[in-house]
Amino acid sequence: MVDSPILITGGGGKTGGRVNVRLQARGLATRAVSRSANVPFDWTRPETWSSALDGVSKAYVTYQPDLAVEGAAEAIAELSALARKMGLERVVLLSGRGEPGAQAAEAALRASGVAWTIVRASWFNQNFSEGYLIDGVLAGEISLPAGAVPEPFIDADDIADVVVAALTDERHANKLYEVTGPRALTFAEATAEIAHATGRPICYRQLSPEAFAANMRQASVPEDVIALLDELFTVVLDGRNANVTDGVEQALGRPARDFSDYARATAAAGVWRA
Ligand SMILES: NC(=O)c1ccc[n+]([C@@H]2O[C@H](COP(=O)([O-])OP(=O)(O)OC[C@H]3O[C@@H](n4cnc5c(N)ncnc54)[C@H](OP(=O)(O)O)[C@@H]3O)[C@@H](O)[C@H]2O)c1
Repeated sequence: MVDSPILITGGGGKTGGRVNVRLQARGLATRAVSRSANVPFDWTRPETWSSALDGVSKAYVTYQPDLAVEGAAEAIAELSALARKMGLERVVLLSGRGEPGAQAAEAALRASGVAWTIVRASWFNQNFSEGYLIDGVLAGEISLPAGAVPEPFIDADDIADVVVAALTDERHANKLYEVTGPRALTFAEATAEIAHATGRPICYRQLSPEAFAANMRQASVPEDVIALLDELFTVVLDGRNANVTDGVEQALGRPARDFSDYARATAAAGVWRA
C-alpha cells in the first residue's frame, strides 16, 4: 500500500521546494501544489483547495504572496477548517515574525482543531539569491528603505529542516518554533558580506520610503506589492525582530547556519555571477 502523500503548498518555492526534496529523499510521498502544478492550487481560488487536500495525510502550508496581505488570515482559517474536516493529521504553517497578519493566521490555525506546528521565521537569506533582492546583487547596488535596524536572517535550508522534523516527528505537534539565524546584520552589513563572498563591489544605499516606492513604480511593480514591501520595511523592520532566537536549536538540537556560510556557498555555486 502506498502511503498518503504530504501536501506542500508553494511546492516549488524557496522553502516548499526544499521540503519536497527532503521528504522525497526519505522515501515519503509528496504532493507539491501551486497554480502551475499538476494538481493546481491557487490561494485566490478556494474551489481548488479540496482536490489538493484530498487523500493527503499532512500539509506544509506556505501562503503567497505573504501572510501580511489582507485576507491571508481568513484564507488560513478556511484551509485549516477544511484540513480538519478532511482528517489531516497535522498542518505545519510557515509564518513571519512581528507581522500582525501572520500572527492572526497562526491564531486561526490553532483555533481550527487540527494538530499544528508553526514555524515563525525571520527574513530569509535566500531573498538575496532566489527572491526580489537578486537583481540588486547582480547590478552591484542594493537600495532599500532599511537603515540601522539589524535583522537575524535565517537560511531556507534550516527552515526546511525544521519543517521536515515537524512533519515526521510527533514531538513537534502543537509547538511554535520562532526561528532566526545566529547573528543579526543590517542590510548594509549583509550586502558587504555578499560583496566579500563574490569578490565584486556591491554597494548598499538607504532610500527614503518615498524614493523606494517611486523606483518600484518606475519598474512597473504592482501597487499591492509596493504596499506590501513598504509595510515590511517601514513597519515590521522597526527593531521588534532584531533579537536572535534559538528556535532551530530547540527543534533540531543544532545551531542555525550563519549568513557568511550562506554567502560563501551561494557565491561558490555561481548564483551571483554577473
Ligand atoms: N521571504 C521572507 O523573508 C519571509 C520571512 C518570513 C515568512 N515568510 C513567509 O513565507 C511565505 C512564502 O514562502 P516561500 O518563500 O517558501 O514561498 P515562495 O518562494 O514565495 O513560493 C513561490 C511559489 O508560490 C506559488 N504561488 C504564487 N502565487 C500563488 C497563489 N496565488 N496560489 C498558490 N501558489 C502561488 C508560485 O508557483 P506558481 O506560479 O506555480 O503558482 C511560486 O513558485 C509567505 O507566506 C511569507 O509570509 C517569508
